[in-house]
Amino acid sequence: MKALVAYYSRTGHTAQVAEAFQRALDAKGVSVEVLRLHRRQEAGFLACGFEARRGAKPAMVELPMDVSGYDMILLGFPTWAGRASSPANSMVAGIQNVDGKQCILFSVSAGKDGFIKGLNDIEAYLKGAGVDVIGKQGFFERDLDTAGSRVAEFVARVLGHSGS
Ligand SMILES: Cc1cc2nc3c(=O)[nH]c(=O)nc-3n(C[C@H](O)[C@H](O)[C@H](O)COP(=O)(O)O)c2cc1C
Repeated sequence: MKALVAYYSRTGHTAQVAEAFQRALDAKGVSVEVLRLHRRQEAGFLACGFEARRGAKPAMVELPMDVSGYDMILLGFPTWAGRASSPANSMVAGIQNVDGKQCILFSVSAGKDGFIKGLNDIEAYLKGAGVDVIGKQGFFERDLDTAGSRVAEFVARVLGHSGS
């Protein structure tokens, strides 16, 4: 099985979780590639919040991206303004040949349950595009020191149920 962990991280927290996913999948014998996506133009805090509220899709250096070479796609993004961050919208719109693939979503927020709406919205979008979302996991920024063990448990549970 070949997996791609593609993520956007503005201040490094989502990157920490992406690395935890890489370690957990690797430990399960999954071949993993990790790709950090970058905006073509940086934006300040307020602009980011407005982008998220209006569902903007900022241009990303690495998109569009063909994911047909992978069996499983993991998409990670921070939460902004109670929603998925705008680069998450760019990601789901810009990954090509993802239909029919297994997908895992993860998001980090500074508020305890801040990630819920963003994860649900992105899941709904992907399901509408024919993607098999097999799991989603939110992370509270203050609990990132325990993210490694939570990710390992989550991966074991999800892979156990996915027939992989
Ligand atoms: C523009 C902006 C808006 C944010 N809005 C929220 C929010 O509504 N709820 C929340 O819990 N965290 C919010 N955050 C905090 C981020 O979700 C949190 O700091 C996260 O860990 C950032 O991930 P990153 O380091 O991968 O960029 C916001 C951050 C930014 C930059």
